[in-house]
Amino acid sequence: MSNKLRVLLTGGCGYIGSHTAVELMRAGHEVVIADSLVNSCASVLPRIEELGGEKPVFYNIDVCDPVKLDELFSNERIDAVIHFAGLKCVPESVSMPLLYYRNNLDSTMNLLERMRDHGVKYVVFSSSATVYGEQDVMPLKEDMPTGACTNPYGMTKHMSEVIIRDAAKADPTLGAVLLRYFNPIGADESGRIGEDPLGIPNNLLPYVAQFATGRREKLFVNGNDYPTRDGTCVRDFIHVTDLALAHVKALDYIVGKAGCEVFNIGTGNGYSVLEVIAAFSRACGKVLKFEFAPRRAGDIPTCYADPSKAERLLGWKAERGLEKMCEDTWRWQSNNPMGYEK
Ligand code: UD1
Repeated sequence: MSNKLRVLLTGGCGYIGSHTAVELMRAGHEVVIADSLVNSCASVLPRIEELGGEKPVFYNIDVCDPVKLDELFSNERIDAVIHFAGLKCVPESVSMPLLYYRNNLDSTMNLLERMRDHGVKYVVFSSSATVYGEQDVMPLKEDMPTGACTNPYGMTKHMSEVIIRDAAKADPTLGAVLLRYFNPIGADESGRIGEDPLGIPNNLLPYVAQFATGRREKLFVNGNDYPTRDGTCVRDFIHVTDLALAHVKALDYIVGKAGCEVFNIGTGNGYSVLEVIAAFSRACGKVLKFEFAPRRAGDIPTCYADPSKAERLLGWKAERGLEKMCEDTWRWQSNNPMGYEK
């Protein structure tokens, strides 16, 4: 492991941010969190402390606010930043594109400017497999073309990648890692932290988990006529703890280096929606009855990673399988049926 680092996590109260905070602390690093709490909850903080063993320093600020972010960098020694903060709801981004472009691009640029002003040299960015758009060939590799995204949310990830890459080109002392996440699911195996979306979940796993507790009445499978083995979409689901550990490895990799490197963070295996529902049924011990519904606009049939670059250069590989992802999701959901607030 590299030296003990003091790491700023923007969006550190969110689903992936909170799991990464815990894994950073378990690896011996210190964590500072900046989060506006628009889509997360401060009651995750004592649970991060409980699991990570230390209280994270917390700033309830919007990363788009240049004055408040500047104050944070003036007050805190920061060795590296992991930039999670952002809006991430695909249909909302289609109906409110300007909100998404303003928020997700302002936050990235503001962060890079404040890092520059305060001499912070390392950044890891939460990107997404969505930057690949629709590709004819699977698995997806990092050098495939990107930017033909199907929605504004995806475009903000692509454009943030471009901004960070150009910033690293212009500053020969800046080190950046872009992590393209596939489909993160699961929860810390303690069941103390997990995904807690506002309102009706858009994504498959949180919806299935809430359906299993009885919080949602019906479960719909969107599309059963895709060109896949059972007609439903295939995705590369990855355990959020494996994903969190990829961030720890990304910091180990980039600290002391310059330039910009991009990695797929997936397992390399695709599972269909029906396979996921079957695995979740086994995990929760209930038969989950579903209905087929029309395709969801913008869904691609199949998406999975070639994660070999991350294994080669970061020494990282996903270790937790689909059963474990479902068991851990269920432990979190059944212990916290209404999420953090209740
Ligand atoms: C979406 C986003 C992706 C984002 C990811 C995690 C797109 C097109 N997708 O991925 O950018 O990073 O969420 O936030 O940009 N499904 C059902 N029933 C449901 C819910 C989902 O059948 O109730 C199906 C969907 O149609 C899809 C699959 O489950 O086939 C996975 O959906 P989801 O969990 O939303 O992930 P993605 O669309 O792959």
